[in-house]
Amino acid sequence: MSVSIKSAREIELMREAGRILAIVHEELGRAIRPGMSTWEVDALGEKLIREHGCVPNFLHYNGYPASICVSVNDEVVHGIPKKTRILKEGDIVSLDAGLIYKGYHSDAARTHGVGRISSEAQKLIDVTKQSFFEGIKMAKEGNHLHDISTAIDDYVSGFGYGIVRDLVGHGIGTSLHEDPQIPNFRQKKKGVRLQAGMTLAVEPMINAGGWEVNFLGDGWTTVTRDGSLSAHYENTILVTDGEPEILTLL
Ligand code: MF3
Ligand code: CO
Repeated sequence: MSVSIKSAREIELMREAGRILAIVHEELGRAIRPGMSTWEVDALGEKLIREHGCVPNFLHYNGYPASICVSVNDEVVHGIPKKTRILKEGDIVSLDAGLIYKGYHSDAARTHGVGRISSEAQKLIDVTKQSFFEGIKMAKEGNHLHDISTAIDDYVSGFGYGIVRDLVGHGIGTSLHEDPQIPNFRQKKKGVRLQAGMTLAVEPMINAGGWEVNFLGDGWTTVTRDGSLSAHYENTILVTDGEPEILTLL
């Protein structure tokens, strides 16, 4: 395993890839409403990405048929957009999106409520988002990769939620998925030493119930085994010798 260290020029391109994706996510978040199909969410996301002169990196990735992953309620990640899947009041919807700018990838995910949602659903969304921030407090040169994993686990476990184990975060740069893999749960080993210039996609996927998931027959959609709600929050970050820089937030 080798983790790439980005040059100053590469970091500039990653920043721009991230900034554009942050804008795309803000627009998508504003567009979400009851009655919208998950296909419409994908079509809007692809249009926004292309309007910025970028390319959706998920489209055709290992055969994935869309630009945005749209995962509703008990769907954890990789929900395939469909004209027949209509968002309704009270749903929660996880949007995972990524793009390529001048050869450099960004990747980020958000979970939104559709209209008014239950307080339980809102709490799951909030804890999932906060777990990302707890994790990246450890993302600093000289710490170890799994310090991030442990910090996420420590925070989330206090709420009794299940941390998805079958899917993990990843390095990112000239490819969507680079070394290292970034688990969201405690590890036995310390993991690689973090260095300034590493770019990482940290992405906790948290279930209101158990951590176990099933993979549906479409080859993509991942759902909670117990049918509980699931939330996802992801940003592409840059490791520095101080606070990490979050590239996919404005
Ligand atoms: N953001 C996800 C990831 O980090 C989605 C990629 S899967 C795709 O792996 F096929 F949809 F591209
Ligand atoms: Co990712």
